Amino acid sequence: MECLVIDGGYGLHGEIKVQGSKNGALPVLAASVLGGRSVIHNCPRLTDTDSSLEILRMLGCGAVRNGNTVTVDADCVPRCDIPPELMRRMRSSVIFLGAVLARCGRAIVSAPGGCELGPRPIDLHLSAMRKLGAEITEKDGLVCCESRGRLKGAEIVLPFPSVGATENIIIAASTAKGRTTLVGAAKEPEITELADFINAKGGRISGAGSDVLVIDGVEAAGNCEHTCIPDRIAAATFIAAAAATGSELTLSDVCPEHIAAVISVFEKAGCRFETKGGKLTVAAPERLKAVRFLQTAPYPAFPTDAQAVTAAALATADGVSVISETIFGSRFRYLRELKRMGANAESEGGIAVIRGVDRLRGAEMHCTDLRGGAALVVAALGAEGRSEIRSLRHIDRGYESFEAALAALGAKIYRNVKNETADTIDVFREASGV
Ligand code: EPZ
Repeated sequence: MECLVIDGGYGLHGEIKVQGSKNGALPVLAASVLGGRSVIHNCPRLTDTDSSLEILRMLGCGAVRNGNTVTVDADCVPRCDIPPELMRRMRSSVIFLGAVLARCGRAIVSAPGGCELGPRPIDLHLSAMRKLGAEITEKDGLVCCESRGRLKGAEIVLPFPSVGATENIIIAASTAKGRTTLVGAAKEPEITELADFINAKGGRISGAGSDVLVIDGVEAAGNCEHTCIPDRIAAATFIAAAAATGSELTLSDVCPEHIAAVISVFEKAGCRFETKGGKLTVAAPERLKAVRFLQTAPYPAFPTDAQAVTAAALATADGVSVISETIFGSRFRYLRELKRMGANAESEGGIAVIRGVDRLRGAEMHCTDLRGGAALVVAALGAEGRSEIRSLRHIDRGYESFEAALAALGAKIYRNVKNETADTIDVFREASGV
């Protein structure tokens, strides 16, 4: 089985360009179904974005990738059903619901997949589509949404600022008849990015980044060119890697304001940050200080997606850190794997207690989910000895050329591919200096 081999205990140094945002690109790709031609730059090369391209092609759109630029042609969208096999690949397949419904007047989907982080219902998405005038029937695991003609603007109140539901509502309402007012919207930067993308296609969305959005429906979406924002969670992951290895790293193509809460936590842990010329430098102390209490919450608070990589860095901090996870019910499963390295960490419900140990030891581990997998990599970089990390499909969903990026920063890391021969391993080892 494919694995990442990491010889830990080496410092990182140099500069890294942060990839385009996965969670920004996915709704943008879905919204491209609304119509016209979309040229999307800085689109990260990930299995999740590849799955979106597959869905687009299956719907009958043109979808071509050239490096980090993707071109989607949605002049004609002949199909409105997404097969369960494609829906299961990732959670954000559900964002196609609003897009396909708005474009075709009908959408047939099944329950979406994605990381196992506890229950992830889509009730908020469905009730919002009903408010916009869709009739929804559920049968044999399929959800069939239908609107007679265009959707109709409505007043929608979200009881919780769900990122995905906000995205689905923005997309569906953008070509609805009349005005939609959404109260209780998510405020994540990816929401603002989506609104900017649709506005560039002729949409009329205001208020993105606040909790009240006003969406005036337009008849059709046109052509546009868009550049994906930097991935704030990838940035947080490199900061955590610097913190776990006592290193100094510079991140380019980064929005420090998008990760203010992450920066503030790592400052409490003893890291120093400097912003200069659009770049962010993090300098970590030899040993971090524990963070007494850290709670995840919707943006602009500390992101749940950066929780695991932060915990990995805190595993060797001086003192006891307490983390409260408020977004997802089961987002501490990676702690089980971290303990194989000697971490002293326990969780109960939404609370984890991490007692910093002197050092972690390399171990064999399995990724439990995307960010949990990244956390194991972060921990292994700072650990003593060799680690082997398996189930890499999780990491490949969200990190572009992860091991190459880390190796360029001086990490001793390589991917040991399936059916490898001793020769191939040697070539990898030589290339990465392991
Ligand atoms: C998005 O997921 C992100 N995914 C997640 O990132 C991120 O963890 C999450 O937002 C929170 O920030 C993408 O953007 C593709 P939610 P999403 O709807 O939209 C409950 C990563 O690691 N809820 O804000 O699925 C839900 O169960 C991924 O990159 C309902 O109850 O998140 C959860 O407890 C993982 N009913 C909470 O809301 C609904 O209809 C937050 O979910 C919808 C959500």
